[in-house]
Order: sequence, then structure tokens, then C-alpha cells
Amino acid sequence: MTRQRIRYVCQNCGSVQAKWMGRCPDCGEWNTLVETVVEVSPKEPSRPVLLSVNEPQPLTAVNTEHDARIRLPMTELDRVLGGGLVPGSVNLIGGDPGIGKSTLLLQVAAGVAEAGGRVLYISGEESLRQIKMRAERLGITSGNILLMSEVHLEPILAHIEQVQPQLAIVDSIQSVYTERVESAAGSVTQVRECAADLLRVAKAHNIPMFLVGHVTKAGAIAGPRVLEHVVDAVLYLEGDRFHTYRLLRSVKNRFGSTNEVGVFEMTESGLREVTNPSEVFLAERLPNAAGSAIAVTMEGTRPIVVEIQALSSPTSFGLPRRTANGVDINRLLLLAAVLSKRVGVKLHDQDIFVNVVGGLRINEPAADLSVAVAIASSYYNRPVPADLVTIGEVGLSGELRGVSHLLRRLSEAARLGFTRCILPQSVLHTGFTPPNGLEVIGARTLRQALHAALGKEEGRA
Ligand code: TYD
Ligand code: MG
Repeated sequence: MTRQRIRYVCQNCGSVQAKWMGRCPDCGEWNTLVETVVEVSPKEPSRPVLLSVNEPQPLTAVNTEHDARIRLPMTELDRVLGGGLVPGSVNLIGGDPGIGKSTLLLQVAAGVAEAGGRVLYISGEESLRQIKMRAERLGITSGNILLMSEVHLEPILAHIEQVQPQLAIVDSIQSVYTERVESAAGSVTQVRECAADLLRVAKAHNIPMFLVGHVTKAGAIAGPRVLEHVVDAVLYLEGDRFHTYRLLRSVKNRFGSTNEVGVFEMTESGLREVTNPSEVFLAERLPNAAGSAIAVTMEGTRPIVVEIQALSSPTSFGLPRRTANGVDINRLLLLAAVLSKRVGVKLHDQDIFVNVVGGLRINEPAADLSVAVAIASSYYNRPVPADLVTIGEVGLSGELRGVSHLLRRLSEAARLGFTRCILPQSVLHTGFTPPNGLEVIGARTLRQALHAALGKEEGRA
């Protein structure tokens, strides 16, 4: 039964308000509400779901056995999830359009199906033919994958309950909508409401789910991160569309550690796991090129050796430019200032470009020294020896500071055949034994480190 009502529809986000307002309360835009006649169906109460346990229980009596994880066919994804998929968990995968979310999930579906599980793949964005074409490209033929092209929440929930799949995939949560809420699909209220209902079904039937979430222009999933609170895990598939590498990063995980990273490569036939990222990131390196330094960065529990490139060239007009790709621009500004002020590398009339090879993003200060060495190497046009890695945080006084997980970083560098490492002097007093074949060189200051790396007296302070 529907009735006609006057409502105010936001032209920006599609939300529907009962009264006119100058500013849309959902998206925050001004003057976007337009008077519209809409059909309104009376609200139905949200469906009750019987949860098996509702009595308070002693902590010791809580059974975690049914949490045995489902191993996925991709070890990289397994690790990011914290060792497999937890039954009944709802996992959000976010990322820019075209980055490979649907591809990844179809491959996961294929793996679960091959192991004998039933997978329900619900797409609100693509037709069954489009999904089939992608599956053909990926060489997936399993009959255990059930496809559904549907955007209404209610039939989706009904089918999940009826099929009782071992894995359900909803691509994407923004395309799903429920009649219970008046606003348009993809609006904050719709997304929150639909996700909450899917979550209830997942928990009630112990069905693990993947939801695809689009990232808004501001970088959040579905507006003001509404979904991140609701779901169990949030993974972001990142990478440069023009590079083939994709990083799957966990930013929230109720069942494992966050900041784990899985590395994939987008190939002609889908995503391929990269189990040896260091080798891959170093593959195209030119030995003895000026402006290149090697850093060892920790991605979760895993050390990854990466090349950092810098280019300094005289500014031709106006203010010197600083461009950072893969490192924080503020970190670059700080390091440039320390190099100028504490070491005497005259960067005030130099444009500086820094790039982390392979599209990786480094978020930790342990790569500071490598960035600084790369910049100085380019400035003096002197290459860093090809067998040298640099590790250390740079302080504002130009001092080098210790970093975490040092031994793991050194082992990874040694494994890849590096034979020398410059690191902060302070860590040498902690009495650790470097891995075989790796000579460690301590430096107290950035100036000493540059001297050791480039073999030259670096300007005047
Ligand atoms: P898709 O999974 O559709 O991205 P999303 O769901 O995140 O929007 O991936 C789209 C891109 O991936 C598209 O540009 C084509 C590319 N691609 C490959 O390079 N190889 C493949 O095997 C597949 C299936 C896609
Ligand atoms: Mg897609």
C-alpha cells in the first residue's frame, strides 16, 4: 500500500527528507533539496533474526570452536584476513573503480567452489553475461558458483537464506537498496541499513560474506565511513591503475592484526599472488644509477625491500617544487629541510621528486634515511653502491634513530644478496648479531650516513 507524499529529494546524494532544509543532512551540500511528489510505503519493522545465544555467559564457557577458519585459495588474502575467512564474518573490500575488486572476489569464489563449497555471487552492477565473460577470461567454470543479478535487498536476503552458501559475495553494497528506506541506492542511510541486514543474516546462519564497497572521491567507503563500524574486517585494494601491482591492505580486522598486506599482480588472466614482493620490486632496478637508494620497509609482519628514487633538478621558475609518490609529502619536506640545514645539501633552489618504485606506499619513518640518501645521491650525481641498503629514521637535528623489527629487515636484505647496511649507531649497542654475509655500518648522524653511502664530504653545514 503506497501513498503520495511531498518529500524533499537531495539532487546531490538522493536522500529524501520530510521537510525542506537549506543543507542536506546526509551529504552536507547546500541548496540541493528539491520538492518532489513521491510514493511512500509505510515502514515495515526490520526483520527479527533469532540469535542462538542471548543469555549472558561466563567468559570461560564461550565456545570459539565454530570459528575454525575457511582457508581461501589465495595465501596472500588468507594472511591479510588473519589466517583465513571466519565463518559468519562480514568483510568489506574497498577500492577505486577498476582496481580489480570483482576480479579478486570471483577468483576467491572459484577457489571456494573448487573445494566443494557453494558460493552465491550477487552483483548489482553487472549483468550475468558480464560476469560470465569475466569468469571465462579467468578460466573459471565451476557449477558451484551461483550468480544473481539483483539490487533489492529483500530477495537477496531471502536467497542467501535459502541457498545457505559457504560464501556470499555482494558486489557492491552501494548498488543494493531496500524499500524500507526512502533515500536512493548508495546513500548513507541505504548503505548502512542494507549492510546491517546482511550482517544479521551472516551472523544468524554463520555464512561468511564479502561486500564490495566503492570509495568516494574523499577516499572513504560510502561516505563518512559508515560501513567500517558495522563490518568485521575492512580491506582496501590499492594500487596504481597504470601499474600492475595491487596491494590488499587490512585497515580493520576483528579477527586478526591490521596492516597486513597482500601483494598481487594484475595479469591477463586475473590477479596473481606475489609471494616474493622484494624481488619483484627490485627487478627493474638499474645498478649504480644516481638518485636511487634501497629501503627495507615493514608491511605488517613482513619486510619488503624497495627502491626509492629521487631526482633533484634546478628550479627554473619560482618556488622549488617537491613531489612525493609513495612517501608522505610532509616527510619529504622535513627531510629536505634537514638535508639543507644539518648537512648543507643546498636544496633551496632544487625541485625534488621522490618515487617509491612499483607503486608501494611507505608509511613508516624507517625509510627516512633511504629517502634522504636518494635525494643527496641525485643532487651530487653519485650512485649509491648496488649492494648497500639503508635503514633509519632521521630526526630534526640530523640524528639517526633506531627502528623496529631490525633483525627481520636485515635478514630480508641479506636474503636478497645485499652485503652492506647503514643503520643508526645506537642499535649497534643493543648487542644483536647481523645475519651472515651482511656487514653493518653504524652512523650517528645523517651526515655520517651520507659519507658512508656516497663516499664524499657532504658540503658545509
Ligand atoms: P574489476 O575487477 O572489474 O574492477 P572493480 O570491480 O574493482 O571495479 O577489474 C577491472 C580491471 O581489471 C579492468 O581494467 C580490466 C582488468 N583485468 C585484467 O587486467 N585482467 C583480468 O583478467 C581481468 C578479469 C580484469
Ligand atoms: Mg566491480
